[in-house]
Amino acid sequence: MIALVMAAGKGTRMLSERPKVLHGIAGEPMLGFVMNELDQLRQDGVIRRVVVIVGHEAGQVQAYLRKAWPFAEDAIQAPQLGTGHAVMQAAPALAGHDGTVLIVNGDLPLLSASTLRRMAEVHRTERAALTLLTVDLPDPGHYGRILRGPDGSVSGIVEFRDATPDQRAIPEINVGVYLADWPSLAEALSHLTPENDQGEYYLTDAVAAIVGRRLKVVAFKTDDVEATYGINNRAELAAAGARWRGRACDRWLDRGVTIEDPATTWIGPRTVIGADTVIEPGVQLYGTTRIGARCVIGSHSRLVDTVVGDGATIRSSDITDGTIGEESTVGPFARLRDHVVVGRQARIGNFVEMKNVRFGDGAKAAHLTYLGDAEVGDKANIGCGTVTCNYDGERKHRTTIGKGAFVGTNNTLVAPLTVGDDAYTAAGSTLTEDVPPGALALGRARQVIKEGWAYRQAEERTRRRAEAAQDGPKELA
Ligand code: UD1
Ligand code: CA
Repeated sequence: MIALVMAAGKGTRMLSERPKVLHGIAGEPMLGFVMNELDQLRQDGVIRRVVVIVGHEAGQVQAYLRKAWPFAEDAIQAPQLGTGHAVMQAAPALAGHDGTVLIVNGDLPLLSASTLRRMAEVHRTERAALTLLTVDLPDPGHYGRILRGPDGSVSGIVEFRDATPDQRAIPEINVGVYLADWPSLAEALSHLTPENDQGEYYLTDAVAAIVGRRLKVVAFKTDDVEATYGINNRAELAAAGARWRGRACDRWLDRGVTIEDPATTWIGPRTVIGADTVIEPGVQLYGTTRIGARCVIGSHSRLVDTVVGDGATIRSSDITDGTIGEESTVGPFARLRDHVVVGRQARIGNFVEMKNVRFGDGAKAAHLTYLGDAEVGDKANIGCGTVTCNYDGERKHRTTIGKGAFVGTNNTLVAPLTVGDDAYTAAGSTLTEDVPPGALALGRARQVIKEGWAYRQAEERTRRRAEAAQDGPKELA
């Protein structure tokens, strides 16, 4: 079986410059939700390949796929002439394939792998040429309606805008997920015409064509109503987001994670959390974030593509592309970005920013520090207010701080610079030259004392004021 994901549409009703399938929930484009479920089927060997049909702003969609789902192949649909036309653009990629295709609309973020599995089972046992995923909705809205013959078998799909009032009253709708024998479907698609209200080639018209060839078409009616949330506008995206938030929290609550306030906790589809971890209110855990066991993720932390080791504590911090070692503590109010790797039992305190840093085991930067493009050895201590000057206006330079080094308070480290193992640097130093291991570096002006200076100044002021008082009337005249 090969999966096709339709992701070429513009999504006019989003009123956006971004293609619809890249609008997201919990930090993940809706396309990623579909890909995540398909990836499970792929890993189980149910599907062999995943081909994504891209078109509108294809470059943006391809860039996302390359980064997040490197196994995906793509096929280009240009111009975008409807869902039937979209599937036809995959024909070259499917050349020689005489098995089944699973076709999924890219705008179904709540579709689950388990629903797809059950549907595939029905398709197989029924020996159908085409199986449709359908659901009965109390308010079927603008979805395509499933048409059935007098014997109850599926005879076609009519789009809402082409439907008669009687057809619009049908509660059973087309979800936008199809399993089909590829040669039969390809044949039916080759005869599609765009004779409908939108002037598009509708994939849904292939249903009647296949029925007309006396091939078996089956509807797999699910009770998984959320799977059918096809997103067309931002209100639908927000509604699906709320459902996803609840569903994701339930999943991790069931696996031994404490989530203090599920109503304000957002967890992406690719995020993993270990047991006995406590998630405080307002937390966002996105992308490929993996949190270990027995961690505390404090209020309003936002972690993207970040790995947190067992027993670590993150308090009110923002971390993107980080790795935090076991039993380390970060925050409150730390910001780590662009590849920060922190060892075990390290301490990163309040108002510390790090960018592209390797921070050793047991190292500390407890307050008010910026480290950029730096390497900090095990057990080094970075004093309050330390800044690595990594940028000269043109290029970035590295700072290396050795194991056990002690960088005094308020140091300015002008890169490229190395502070050797076990070295000390004096408080308030501006360092421009390397410090050898075990040395003390003082990089500040020597203090000068002028005895009695302040008193003399005060006397001088008093004298001048007295003079001014005598001269005053003259000046006014
Ligand atoms: C489609 C179905 C409708 C179903 C609904 C479920 C058709 C004709 N209609 O309608 O029966 O009830 O989904 O949500 O299929 N796309 C392309 N290329 C195109 C047009 C669309 O790749 O030329 C992609 C879109 O990016 C999107 C998906 O196909 O992911 C569905 O397109 P959309 O325009 O949202 O279809 P609906 O009108 O919702
Ligand atoms: Ca849709």
